Amino acid sequence: MTDVKKLISEEEITAIVNSLAAKITEDFAGRDLLVIGILKGASVFMSDLIRQIKLPLELDYMAVSSYGSSTKSSGVVRIVKDLEADVTGKTVLIIEDIVDTGLTISYLTKYMMSKNAKTVKVCSLLNKPSRRKIDIVVDYVGKEIEDYFVVGYGIDYDEKYRNLPYVAVYEGDLY
Ligand code: IMP
Ligand code: MG
Repeated sequence: MTDVKKLISEEEITAIVNSLAAKITEDFAGRDLLVIGILKGASVFMSDLIRQIKLPLELDYMAVSSYGSSTKSSGVVRIVKDLEADVTGKTVLIIEDIVDTGLTISYLTKYMMSKNAKTVKVCSLLNKPSRRKIDIVVDYVGKEIEDYFVVGYGIDYDEKYRNLPYVAVYEGDLY
């Protein structure tokens, strides 16, 4: 492995996850909570996060594509895998890896509302506010970062590096 610029260590990720889970546990007590992970990027984060949420909850997943194999968003959101759960009347918590332009989250929030969800909240491990193209609220943010292209902990570059246990800035092939 060559030059890896580690941005968020495993220890810091654990602290972020625990703190988000504690807030979510407090805020969603007594609600009919449906946690929806956005594949594939949120899969690692979501599996850690849900194990620290001390509430009954249901899980579902959606897969959308907005990035191809480049590092720039196409701005087009396409549903690759749709919901299985009925979101009608549910309190939905969308789990994302990164909110960048905001186009994906904006689309998904509207989509869940159109399916009659009661409320839709968003939890993202990372947030790049400087890249926003659309004004959206991210209710739970793990960490705000500069405009770096990052990989690891579920996040890919061209489908690679999702298995890194930490978050790194992508600066060319890591291995
Ligand atoms: P948005 O629609 O522009 O907000 O894009 C959100 C999606 O773009 C995220 O769920 C990621 O899959 C992808 N993305 C944004 N920034 C990065 C990055 O730095 N590394 C890898 N994927 C990213
Ligand atoms: Mg992605």
